[in-house]
Amino acid sequence: REPLDPVRFLGNRSSGRQGFALASTAAARGARVTLVAANVALPDPAGVDVVRVSTAAELAAAVTAAVADHADAVVMAAAVADFRPVAVVGTKIKKDDTGGVPEPVALERTEDVLAALVATRPTGAAVPVIVGFAAETGDDEGDVLHHGRAKLARKGCDLLVVNDVSGATGFESADNAAVILTAEGDQRAVPLGPKAALAEAVWDLVSARWPVSSSC
Ligand code: CTP
Repeated sequence: REPLDPVRFLGNRSSGRQGFALASTAAARGARVTLVAANVALPDPAGVDVVRVSTAAELAAAVTAAVADHADAVVMAAAVADFRPVAVVGTKIKKDDTGGVPEPVALERTEDVLAALVATRPTGAAVPVIVGFAAETGDDEGDVLHHGRAKLARKGCDLLVVNDVSGATGFESADNAAVILTAEGDQRAVPLGPKAALAEAVWDLVSARWPVSSSC
């Protein structure tokens, strides 16, 4: 959520359920887990350190701190805001008597947390394994997987979980279907099912990339 004034923000439809499922399933596998949650109306999962944040900048700071604490894997399931208002107004923006509307809201880019993680990982290092998510729709330039592959190459992460959001699955749903793309060009389709099932598939692929992670 990127604030505009004390009562308004720019936000999106993500419920955070997929991130919570990833945290719970990792903890159940014995991992030490930090869950950075932005504006999620769900209780803390058992056995997980939860850091509650609100804005993209707060999320970036919390993820950076958690990764610095010897993270073996980072999964960016958050629907992070890409833009925020340049100026946050300290008082509520009011209607006036003329029937007019306020000035257009000027936006600026937020930090791309995933790209920063990739950029700061030492060249050739296997950890942390970095996993991104991508909500995509097909268009004239290509289908969902075409856009997913391009995003994986652009972001430089190890795995990309691609959601087709043109249908009903994904946002605000208890279930999810996705295709997990690997940097080597492989892919694994996970059929529509509980978000925990997709989370398990992600951890299977993360574990397979990390030679010392046989217990994860
Ligand atoms: N992401 C991030 N920081 C941002 C925006 C996105 O870390 N400021 C991460 C998301 O958590 C996700 C991945 O980048 O893991 C892809 O997010 P997405 O919104 O699909 O990609 P964008 O790079 O924002 O591209 P676009 O919206 O133009 O498709």
